[in-house]
Amino acid sequence: MNLEDWQKEDLKYIWHPCSQMKDYEELPPIIIDHGKGINLYDIEGKCYKDVVSSWWCNLLGHCNPKISEALQKQSKTLEHVIFANFSHKGIIELSKRLAQIVPQGLSKFNYSDNGSSAIEMAMKMSFQYFQQTGKTKKTRFMALTDAYHGETLAALSAGACDLYTKIYKPILMDIIRVQAPDCYHCPFNKNRDNCSCECFCYAEKAFEKYKDETAAILVEPLLQGSAGMKIYPALYLKKLRELCNKYDIHLIADEIATGFYRTGKMFAFNHAGVSPDIMCISKGLTGGYMPMAAVVTTDKIYQAFYDDYSKGKAFMHSHTYAGNPLGASCALAVLDIFKEGKIQEQLKSTTPYFNNLIKENFLNLDNVGEVRSIGLINAIEIVKDKKNKIHFDSKIRLGYQIYKKALKKGVLLRPLGDVIYFNPPLIMEKEDMDFAVKVAKECTIETLKEF
Ligand SMILES: Cc1ncc(COP(=O)(O)O)c(C=O)c1O
Repeated sequence: MNLEDWQKEDLKYIWHPCSQMKDYEELPPIIIDHGKGINLYDIEGKCYKDVVSSWWCNLLGHCNPKISEALQKQSKTLEHVIFANFSHKGIIELSKRLAQIVPQGLSKFNYSDNGSSAIEMAMKMSFQYFQQTGKTKKTRFMALTDAYHGETLAALSAGACDLYTKIYKPILMDIIRVQAPDCYHCPFNKNRDNCSCECFCYAEKAFEKYKDETAAILVEPLLQGSAGMKIYPALYLKKLRELCNKYDIHLIADEIATGFYRTGKMFAFNHAGVSPDIMCISKGLTGGYMPMAAVVTTDKIYQAFYDDYSKGKAFMHSHTYAGNPLGASCALAVLDIFKEGKIQEQLKSTTPYFNNLIKENFLNLDNVGEVRSIGLINAIEIVKDKKNKIHFDSKIRLGYQIYKKALKKGVLLRPLGDVIYFNPPLIMEKEDMDFAVKVAKECTIETLKEF
């Protein structure tokens, strides 16, 4: 079969995620044959630079030899085993090693198979904790405006990006919404690099009002990814920790997109020097190889579930693929790679290079409102009116037009609305950075000329 045949067969049977399928009439699916490093190759050999890490999960390059080898080896001894009453060496070793690197105080690992399910688990865990420790009125959750925590119903409820949630509102949970930091449009006219998080007053007000009914607040630490890679200061997390202590509200860290050096440190919470009560990790955990997530919590929370069976306090939550050995083998290989320290060394030089390159190329364009970066993540906010920070009409789908042009030139960008961003595998080399930024700039300028 040739490329067109494969595309026809795809569209005959497959309903792709997060897509208006009618768009595929004009832009049929790109059929990938293989990957290597940051490159994806289609079945005709065309190369695409995967600068979005295939939805932010590919951490150390496609077909990383060390991870592939670990996975292959594991597949020959044990592919899966029920995780209730049974265990295996890989997951024990993984939990032990993760315990050494997660923020202090987090010590118990409960596994699932994707980010959304981890969020659901964290919410249920927090709720049940308060039911079993006498604060039974704590039945609600808080989350930030512009949040994204996944697509299953509770995770979607915690999220607040209209694009994903609006239609489902009648069937979603009633979440207490806290105005998130919005540094580009800061209502206090401050700068994220030296402000005192004046916007924290919104959280203070919400906590004061809803303290008795709130079990937990969920946050994407430092980076609201799906909202357009919005970045806020670590100080906000420090303040949130204090407020959560004051009102006995759990702090749930959604580190699904930020974990494993995406923000320049192992976890985004490390920038703040404080710990959450519950932390969700996924995506980079297995290097983007296998669907695996972990909900990590404190011994204090764990102990509230630990009792005689007859007391009915157990956490009766399960997923078939919890603790999957194949996922564990990949995650252990990822930790081995970090242990070598070469990636961290490389990042010391590539991170400032990439961030400066993007600033130099985009900051002075007439339609670029802001360029922001954390770790290797860089976002370029395209606006119609720079002075007044006015966006283009979303109906023209500016980002999508840029996306299509960049694909033709071999770069997989996938903007979020009018925010062009890079969130590449950590192994990206300077040469590839030069190429991807050149293409992104050309495509942005060409597209802007059309409007
Ligand atoms: C911050 C955050 N939380 C949760 C999720 C959901 O993870 P999954 O797609 O594995 O369900 C995502 C996915 O992009 C995410 O970015």
